[in-house]
Amino acid sequence: MKDAIKANFDASVSAYDAYERRTGRFAALARLLYAEMAARGDGTLDALLDAGAGSGVSTRVFGEAASRTVALDISREMLRENSGSPCIQGDFDHLPFADGTFDGVAFTASLFLVPDPTVAVEEAERVLRTGGVVGAVAPLGWYTDDGTDVFETLDRDSRSPTRTDDVEAALAETFAVSTGTWRFATTADDLRLFHEIPAMAARLYPRLSPDERVEKAVELLDTVDGTLEQRWRWIVGVSE
Ligand SMILES: C[S@@+](CC[C@H](N)C(=O)[O-])C[C@H]1O[C@@H](n2cnc3c(N)ncnc32)[C@H](O)[C@@H]1O
Repeated sequence: MKDAIKANFDASVSAYDAYERRTGRFAALARLLYAEMAARGDGTLDALLDAGAGSGVSTRVFGEAASRTVALDISREMLRENSGSPCIQGDFDHLPFADGTFDGVAFTASLFLVPDPTVAVEEAERVLRTGGVVGAVAPLGWYTDDGTDVFETLDRDSRSPTRTDDVEAALAETFAVSTGTWRFATTADDLRLFHEIPAMAARLYPRLSPDERVEKAVELLDTVDGTLEQRWRWIVGVSE
C-alpha cells in the first residue's frame, strides 16, 4: 500500500503543480490550517513538521509563518521540487526525530493517505513537545449547487484509502481536538484537473496505470458541469 502511494505521488509532480498553479487550493489549506493551529496552541508555533510536504506548497506557507520548518515526505520525486530546508524522505509512521522535537505537526492533505492513521498520530504525539499542536486537513468531497455529492451516482472502483471520519477519530483518541469544515467555490473543470493528478485518480481506479486511470477519471467526469463546492475537514489537537 505505502509503495503504491509513493509511486502514485512520484508520478504526480507536474499534474499536481499544474492544479496548484490554477487553483492555489493547497496553499489556501496550509494557510488556514496554520491559523487554526496557532489559535489553539500556547503561543509558540516555531518548530514545525510539514508532514507530507510534497513539492513544497505547504512548506512555503509554513516557512513564512514559522522560524523552522522541516519538510518530510515519502515521495522522492515530490520532494525533489521542494525548496524547503531540511527536506527529509520518510514515512509518517516512523518519524526520524527525537521525542518532543516540534511545537507543531501539520498534515496538509496527507494523513488520510495512510492505510491506518493511528500509527502516524502516535508518532506525531511522540515528536511533539507537551502543549504542542497537531493539525490535519482531510477531504469531504465535491458537491453540486443543490448539495449532492458529485460522486454519489458515478460508477468508479473505489474511494480514498482512509475515510475522513477515521482520520478525525484517530486524532481524537490521542488529542483534545477541535474540528470544522472549509468550503471552496470551484468548477467542474477544476474537478477534472484535480483528477488529472495520477495520485488523485488512484482514489477512483487504484488498479490501473497512472495514464490509464487519469484517462478513465477524466472520461467519468466528462458530464459534470458548472459550479461546484469542494469541502475539506480540518482537525486540530493539542498535546496534553
Ligand atoms: C496531497 S499531497 C499534499 C502535499 C503538500 N502538503 C501540499 O500542501 O501541497 C500529499 C503528500 O503526502 C505524502 N504522503 C503520503 N503518505 C505518506 C507517508 N506515509 N509518509 C510521508 N508522506 C506521505 C505524499 O507523497 C504527498 O506528497
